[in-house]
Amino acid sequence: MKPLALITGGAGFIGSHTAEALLKAGYRVRVLDCLDPQIYGAGSGFPSYLNKDIECVYGNVRNFDDVISALSGVSYLFHFASLTGVGQSMYDLRNYIDTNVSGTATLIEAIIKSRLSIDRFILSSSRAVYGEGTCKCQNCGIIYPPIRKRSDLELGKFYISCPRCKIQTTSVPTEEDRPLDPNSIYGWTKKLQEELCRYAADSFGLPVVILRYFNVYGSRQSLKNPYTGIVSIFLNRMASGKSVSIYEHGTPLRDFVHVSDVVSANLSAMSQELPIGTTLNVGSGTASSIQDIITALSKATGTKATIQDHGEFRIGDIHACIASTSKIKNLLNYEAKITLENGIREFVEWAKTQDIPDDSYQKTVDELRAVGLFGSTQSGIPS
Ligand SMILES: NC(=O)c1ccc[n+]([C@@H]2O[C@H](COP(=O)([O-])OP(=O)(O)OC[C@H]3O[C@@H](n4cnc5c(N)ncnc54)[C@H](O)[C@@H]3O)[C@@H](O)[C@H]2O)c1
Ligand SMILES: [Zn+2]
Repeated sequence: MKPLALITGGAGFIGSHTAEALLKAGYRVRVLDCLDPQIYGAGSGFPSYLNKDIECVYGNVRNFDDVISALSGVSYLFHFASLTGVGQSMYDLRNYIDTNVSGTATLIEAIIKSRLSIDRFILSSSRAVYGEGTCKCQNCGIIYPPIRKRSDLELGKFYISCPRCKIQTTSVPTEEDRPLDPNSIYGWTKKLQEELCRYAADSFGLPVVILRYFNVYGSRQSLKNPYTGIVSIFLNRMASGKSVSIYEHGTPLRDFVHVSDVVSANLSAMSQELPIGTTLNVGSGTASSIQDIITALSKATGTKATIQDHGEFRIGDIHACIASTSKIKNLLNYEAKITLENGIREFVEWAKTQDIPDDSYQKTVDELRAVGLFGSTQSGIPS
């Protein structure tokens, strides 16, 4: 019989694409998902894009019995079930910790207690574990910047200054073995997920591989969920004829990686020889600005975006983080292939086939503002 792969959170964006690739590669696939209403709407069934050969199990990773029964017969495990909104995590702490941390603990406890022998456990971690990406100061060399001060953000100092000599630094690739210093509760939960997995690897020999995804985008990224996925959020705003707000004057840099590249990394990390506990960045290695995203979306949709730039910022956001890709290249011979322009085109073509839901992004801003996590430079322009 073909080996069975279980994907927790497998109805979602990255999970569903991974499920399809696993089926194509000859595996049996089971998905365990609680169909979070924030992503699918209330009372929704499993999404119709899931292939009928995928075994869909409705259940919660926080529920021990659901997890024990979903694990039956499993050889490969992809743990993707998580809440993923960085901003939302900053005030919805209990939900994020319950789902992301307790959910991972439940899964590991179920594996240990059922004495299940699995061939590989892939954890979907995040670049959020680093906090600010690695920077270089021309006087002091490599630095791992601490969280930016609110008082600096209010003065429009969005860039990263050197903690020692105070001059402006430049962003350089963020390597896996540097210190972890998350800026957000989401980042803390991903770091704790990693630590739980390392504990299980060290104490029980669980064959864990940790993949730190950078900013993933592509078809099936929820158009309903206003809390996560900048490409989906912008497209939704543009399709509704609304303006797009850019924060920190559009200066932040991110590493966007298309979901099909992430899926290839997932399958390689599952099937190739790797030491237990191997931790790899999954990114493109290329820095893109928010303006680059808007330009690519405008080109692919043929619509010009109206941009709002009031010097606003969100506490919990980082300024820049770009993947160092040398480790994954060396160990898995992996390189992301899809350019931003082509990837955005794929996403837009898919979005054209979808009902674009009412845009509810403003709600997320109001929620952040209500708890004091949304700010702006005093004048709205940089000092
Ligand atoms: N998308 C990105 O840019 C990105 C970047 C870094 C890391 N990640 C990580 O990758 C993983 C997948 O992310 P995604 O973008 O596909 O997110 P997604 O929201 O599309 O998918 C997550 C899935 O998990 C399910 N889920 C949530 N709570 C659950 C629970 N308690 N029990 C069972 N299922 C539950 C949701 O219903 C959803 O189907 C997550 O762990 C996320 O932290 C994503
Ligand atoms: Zn310096």
